[in-house]
Amino acid sequence: MELKEFRSFFNNQLKNLYPKTEIDAFFFRIVAEKLNLSVTDVFMKDSIKLSDSLVNELQQITNKLLQEQPIQYILGTTEFYGLQFDVNEHVLIPRPETEELVSWVLDHIKNNLTIKNVLDIGTGSGCIPISIKKNASDTNVSAIDISAKALETAIINAKNNNVLIDFIEKDILTSKSLHQDYDIIVSNPPYVRELEKQEIKNNVLANEPHLALFVSNENPLVFYKKIADLALQHLTNNGVLFLEINQYLGQETVNMLKNKGFKNIELKKDLFGNNRMIKASK
Ligand SMILES: C[S@@+](CC[C@H](N)C(=O)[O-])C[C@H]1O[C@@H](n2cnc3c(N)ncnc32)[C@H](O)[C@@H]1O
Repeated sequence: MELKEFRSFFNNQLKNLYPKTEIDAFFFRIVAEKLNLSVTDVFMKDSIKLSDSLVNELQQITNKLLQEQPIQYILGTTEFYGLQFDVNEHVLIPRPETEELVSWVLDHIKNNLTIKNVLDIGTGSGCIPISIKKNASDTNVSAIDISAKALETAIINAKNNNVLIDFIEKDILTSKSLHQDYDIIVSNPPYVRELEKQEIKNNVLANEPHLALFVSNENPLVFYKKIADLALQHLTNNGVLFLEINQYLGQETVNMLKNKGFKNIELKKDLFGNNRMIKASK
């Protein structure tokens, strides 16, 4: 089969499920990776002959897309902050909003050269600590997650990106203290309320780890309250807390931090205009 024949098969199979732009993006990403070509080459070489085993593999990928599996899990990798990360069913697929949080943290580090120790809580794939360490190599970066399987993936990602991170398996909700004090604590904890499940796309609901996503309707700030308490205990004097938040709970999260005594609280919108991040000083 020639590549252009596969492309028309691919388009036909997926056209009722995804918009054309997304199908094109899938096609170029999959073919570039599986044939080890640049995207330009995929475009130019549409008469290239595909081996039977490759056609078979591409058909299996098409079937997974038909089952609405995320492309990142199908291929096992994604890009975050210009770096490559392995992803699988044990870790959340890193989101573009979280890249904005990392940028905010890195801006703060660049303007405060005495910053040494950084902690990420709920690290998943390790996207936050690895991107921070890669771009602020003088810092010591640690990261906590409750999931041993997520940490296995994060450790591989740190190794592949040539950075040293101190990964710690820990349940933050039952922890009375942290291992040491930190100049920065950053977290993108679970924050989607059960009542928001209907807004979540099928492919997220069916594939991404619910442990990484959901909190109860009754206590949606459970992680933020606990992280705030631990941060008050373990941030250094000029220490700063950075949080990714639920867009619908911006003011509630700000008020909770204010009531606990945090200062200089900034609520920031993401590129889509949603309240998405908070920076607060001890
Ligand atoms: C929203 S995900 C964020 C993952 C990653 N930091 C990112 O931004 O893509 C939240 C993470 O918190 C972890 N988590 C859930 N409950 C936890 C707990 N009680 N203690 C520590 N980590 C927890 C999950 O395993 C998951 O990896």
